[in-house]
Amino acid sequence: MIYLDNAATSKTKPDEVIQAVIDAMQSAGNASRGASNESLSSDRIVFQTRKKISELFNVSNPRQVVFTKNSTEAINVALQGIIEEGDHVITSCMEHNSVLRPLNYLKRDKKVEVDYIHIDENGDLKYEEIKGLIKLNTKVLVLNHASNVTGNINNLRHIGDICRAKNIIFIVDVSQSAGSFEIDMIRDNIDVLCFTGHKSLLGPQGTGGLCVRDNIYIEPLMSGGTGVHTYDSYQPDRMPTRLESGTLNAHGIAGLGAGIDYINSKGMDKLTEKATIFSKTFFDGVKSIDNIKLYGNYDTQYRAPIVSLNIADMDSSELSAILSDKYNISTRPGAHCAPLLHESMKTVDQGMVRFSFSHQNTMEEVEFAIKAIREVAEEENSTTI
Ligand SMILES: Cc1ncc(COP(=O)(O)O)c(C=O)c1O
Repeated sequence: MIYLDNAATSKTKPDEVIQAVIDAMQSAGNASRGASNESLSSDRIVFQTRKKISELFNVSNPRQVVFTKNSTEAINVALQGIIEEGDHVITSCMEHNSVLRPLNYLKRDKKVEVDYIHIDENGDLKYEEIKGLIKLNTKVLVLNHASNVTGNINNLRHIGDICRAKNIIFIVDVSQSAGSFEIDMIRDNIDVLCFTGHKSLLGPQGTGGLCVRDNIYIEPLMSGGTGVHTYDSYQPDRMPTRLESGTLNAHGIAGLGAGIDYINSKGMDKLTEKATIFSKTFFDGVKSIDNIKLYGNYDTQYRAPIVSLNIADMDSSELSAILSDKYNISTRPGAHCAPLLHESMKTVDQGMVRFSFSHQNTMEEVEFAIKAIREVAEEENSTTI
């Protein structure tokens, strides 16, 4: 199988990640639950990974790194713990449902107002709209770094500067860019950064988290056992315990730490460059095929290694099924959990077929995928004439 669905999850994890999970499963007790060797071993695993995350994103202190099971949970913790009744929030039409749905509940249940930055025909954010959307009660601007559909990348520094000047909390969803692109919370004025562990960070599924600036208070979404302050009636106030209830996924967190080590040892830029060459080669190979529709801005220096396309009016699920059944190529059709993006790009009925590349692919796989698209397009074009 040729796996071109890396934006959904990175499939083959490095051996070091697998080994770290096995080692943790054989040694780790329950973190923060006493002073047994096993519990302390788990504490060390968790702390080391917090430290690696804080270094990766330039977080002020490892204690400001909170673990969750994925970025969806991290985004929910941030949005529900910061936004209050009557607040105004700005987001964009390129967001994933991980952002849009929690905001819809806040709109419905807490009378929160939400405005959406539009995107242009290439899927790029209309930056010029941002200042006009800011109101006196704008509390949060929440945005992804890279679109999971087009691969377009947003200029975080520019938006972070606007937020800082207007005293707006800037929450960023880096699900598609963490582990591929340099992200600096301090430089980019990011207040809360939500990440997932199982995509380009090469960790196991069930890992993710949020990094929080020192001065940002997030009310806990959940409460329960923390192993400390047992007689407190409520969640301990200190970070990260305030936002972490129940047993942590220390086994997965060990794998996530090993994923970050792997990226650092190989060089993040080198891994990303490889994936980008595959993505660009694929784009160049398919762009002149008759009746191909390509989505996104390919005229930029930085973009995530994603190419989304359609062939004429062919349903995206049908094309993806042919690629899978006849060519053994895994892609992702449909709407990719990004309803407003598809509405904006007028692809609600057809969807798009997303090809997403990683450093683990090969040039032969890319060439084969181009050939497959050419053959399916020729066949489709001949039957529609
Ligand atoms: C931009 C974006 N945000 C959020 C998510 C949700 O990630 P997870 O399923 O790990 O919570 C994804 C996953 O595809 C994504 O691409």
